[in-house]
Amino acid sequence: MAGLFISFEGIDGVGKTTQADLLEQWLKASGKSVLRTLEPGGTEVGVEIRKILLHHRGELAPRSEAALFAADRAHHVATKIRPALERGEIVITDRYLDSSVAYQGAGRELSRQEVRDLSLWAVGGLLPELTILLDLPADVARSRRNTTGTEPDRLESEKIEFFERARQAYLELAKAEPERFLVVDASVDVNAMQEAIRARVSELI
Ligand code: TYD
Repeated sequence: MAGLFISFEGIDGVGKTTQADLLEQWLKASGKSVLRTLEPGGTEVGVEIRKILLHHRGELAPRSEAALFAADRAHHVATKIRPALERGEIVITDRYLDSSVAYQGAGRELSRQEVRDLSLWAVGGLLPELTILLDLPADVARSRRNTTGTEPDRLESEKIEFFERARQAYLELAKAEPERFLVVDASVDVNAMQEAIRARVSELI
């Protein structure tokens, strides 16, 4: 495909949105066409699915949760990401399939391989050229998150162990696919992180 597909990953509170914003601004300033998007909820259908995933008050079985994230992703890829890549655009998504492997696979203790296969099926095998993993210990990420003052959603309300499992899974994913992943230490300052990200993206454009 003509475009470039970049995903941001990491547990809640590591600062993905800030870094994705800065990367988007930099690419646009140099005249690139950028589609900035997110999961869950990058499409109209996705916004509906997101409401269930983040705000449903009753029980949601782990496999149902995994299937809903995959459904959101399937529609997102089919209607937004793939068309943008075919037009030659740079797609920056705040979360993609590695989130499901980390949160549903490791966090919910489903099979990581099955969760990955489910998502890969949903997206027809589409993987990012670059996945930027922002890494922080779960307790540090949590304390950053708490400063925002908003009510925690269904996933944010999980125990610290859930996020520690997700973090470890992310690091293992990065180790298994070093050519796709850039791991950035999210304890350094915002500008230093962005510099490392831009250096890697420059190599790809
Ligand atoms: P969001 O408010 O977008 O969180 P963030 O700003 O940290 O990305 O909510 C998304 C939540 O959904 C977040 O807690 C991570 C979780 N999630 C999964 O559990 N599995 C997935 O496949 C995705 C995409 C997100």
